[in-house]
Amino acid sequence: MNDHSQIFRTSQLEENDGPGHNPTDNATMGELIAARFSRRGFLKGSLAVSAIAATVSPMALMMADEARAESKSAFTFDEVEAGIDETHHVAAGYDADVLLRWGDAIFADSPEFDPLNQTPESQAKQFGYNNDYVGYLPIDGSSEHGLLVVNHEYTNEHLMFPGIVKVVKDDKGEAKIEIAPADQKRVDVEMAAHGGTIVEIKKTNGKWQVVKDGKLNRRITANTEMQLSGPVAGHERVRTKADPSGTKVFGTINNCAGGVTPWGTYVMAEENIHGYFLGELSADSKEAANYKRMGIPEGAYDWGRFHDRFDLSKEPNEANRFGWIVEVDVNDPNSVPKKRTSMGRFKHEGAESVVAKDGRVVFYLGDDERFDYVYKFVTAGKFNPEDRASNLDLLDQGTLFVAKFAADGSVNWLPIVHGEGPLTEANGFASQADVLIETRRAGDLLGATKMDRPEDIQPNPVNGKVYVMLTNNTKRKDDQVDAANPRAKNAFGHIIEIGEEDGNFAATSGKWEVLLKCGDPSVADVGSSFSTDTTRNGWFGMPDNCAVDADGRLWVSTDGNSPEATGRTDGIWAVDTDGPARGTSKLFFRVPVGAEMCGPLMLPDMATFMVAVQHPGDGGEDWKPFGRPSYYEDPSTRWPDFKDDMPVRPSVLAITKKGGGKIAV
Ligand code: FEO
Ligand code: CA
Ligand code: CA
Ligand code: CA
Repeated sequence: MNDHSQIFRTSQLEENDGPGHNPTDNATMGELIAARFSRRGFLKGSLAVSAIAATVSPMALMMADEARAESKSAFTFDEVEAGIDETHHVAAGYDADVLLRWGDAIFADSPEFDPLNQTPESQAKQFGYNNDYVGYLPIDGSSEHGLLVVNHEYTNEHLMFPGIVKVVKDDKGEAKIEIAPADQKRVDVEMAAHGGTIVEIKKTNGKWQVVKDGKLNRRITANTEMQLSGPVAGHERVRTKADPSGTKVFGTINNCAGGVTPWGTYVMAEENIHGYFLGELSADSKEAANYKRMGIPEGAYDWGRFHDRFDLSKEPNEANRFGWIVEVDVNDPNSVPKKRTSMGRFKHEGAESVVAKDGRVVFYLGDDERFDYVYKFVTAGKFNPEDRASNLDLLDQGTLFVAKFAADGSVNWLPIVHGEGPLTEANGFASQADVLIETRRAGDLLGATKMDRPEDIQPNPVNGKVYVMLTNNTKRKDDQVDAANPRAKNAFGHIIEIGEEDGNFAATSGKWEVLLKCGDPSVADVGSSFSTDTTRNGWFGMPDNCAVDADGRLWVSTDGNSPEATGRTDGIWAVDTDGPARGTSKLFFRVPVGAEMCGPLMLPDMATFMVAVQHPGDGGEDWKPFGRPSYYEDPSTRWPDFKDDMPVRPSVLAITKKGGGKIAV
């Protein structure tokens, strides 16, 4: 659509600046760090990270580190060395095997991956792009045979399609890539590469394989027919020319993290939906403020040039049909996924759930934008483990709450209910449907706490706590600091731990504390709070997705570690939350250059850890051995195939212990 957004698209979508977005934020983060180092007389930029380590004998530091980290941690493994190169690294004694790559067959009749001749039809039968959330639904209770569900968040055209990139110089003389405008076919391939994958997998002789003729295998795309369900279904603000009923939507987009429900369905969060819309609303539109609050339209993708529904001038209500949690009944490959409007409309990061003491089910929901909110949804009905069918519409009725974190360490969950408090006609809410369509504005009026980009939120049924990943917020000013967001210019993010009242996840209040302030503990100005047992490999920035294993241990994956930001790639860090090692972190796995770490998921038997490597090779300018823009013909890595005729491919890996057994035990 416009060259500017084409060039900056990937950083825009993942950093998710939204309104007031500033595409130079990466540089700001680098400048911030460089400024800190330069005050100490160190070298600038990425060299500074190694310069810090070099001030003490590296060997002495390493030995002391290893001795300390082994002592108290609940995780038993030898840490990976933090760093950056073309491939992934897992802790010694483990295998990380590629299970599914972008383009891999997931049906018996899927065409073979042919990157030079991609079609929407072939992509719709292959594993999609940019795997994010990974979930597992056991078959007959097995941890060696089940359905893997994977979100495909977005597409990186410059790495995905041959012949569309031109390298140009920007105003400062630096090389940048320019992406050719899309044609219809490319757009349709992109749409088919979005959504999700449901695929049967089986472990035989210790190795996982895809069961291509699995009867429940399914691709969900930006074209799959879906139903709007719950309070917003049929409302005039979701009716379009193509769907006067306001109930039938095509597709789900930008599915970031997600969840599986206790009754065995797959929930997909719709996150950065603003990038897919273009065009202008008419001057008399009532949706202007609503769309502005969501950053719509952003026009990063060209879809609206070929599909009217993504053009606001043609279908002004379509954007109200996205930004929801989508539930998929995986037991029927023809089931119509349902957009559960009772769970609110915002930039949904994930939807991890837990059954409360009384049988109601609680979903924790993050809205990933600077200064946006933490939510939870509590079902009205109770989960019935004996009758799956009776649970299938639990998500249509319940209460959505938004979090208010107080300085005294308490958290209050404020109900988002029409007619209560400020959520009235006088404030433009005629019904609960209005409230849900503009969930963010409801949160504004209720005085919810403005957070540093809430990402994945994980309830931990073992210790009764809830972990909130807050990825970063470099725009928070000194006078905007509060107890729950304690750092201005928060470049590296933090993790909050919530303990609900009486250990009841459905409670409307609880206590909270900061578990970790992230960033390099050796740089005092960063103000991080990793335990002193954390080695120089063990610290990280930018927590994003996370998982809790069957033993109740927390695993954190990151988005945004880079040569420039932290001198390391993203990865999986094992974080102690209980006992004397609380606040200790250890690096278990790291991704190839340019990638973000998604997933992660420990299977119930703790013998397999699934991880998703998203957008590998996206970037390379700030990685010295490459030092130039990365794109299809000249990527910074050709992971995982390392073949000259194969592009770099986002992939899901299955990590197992050599010889089998529980991981990190
Ligand atoms: Fe898609 Fe908020 O990460
Ligand atoms: Ca995320
Ligand atoms: Ca998670
Ligand atoms: Ca992220």
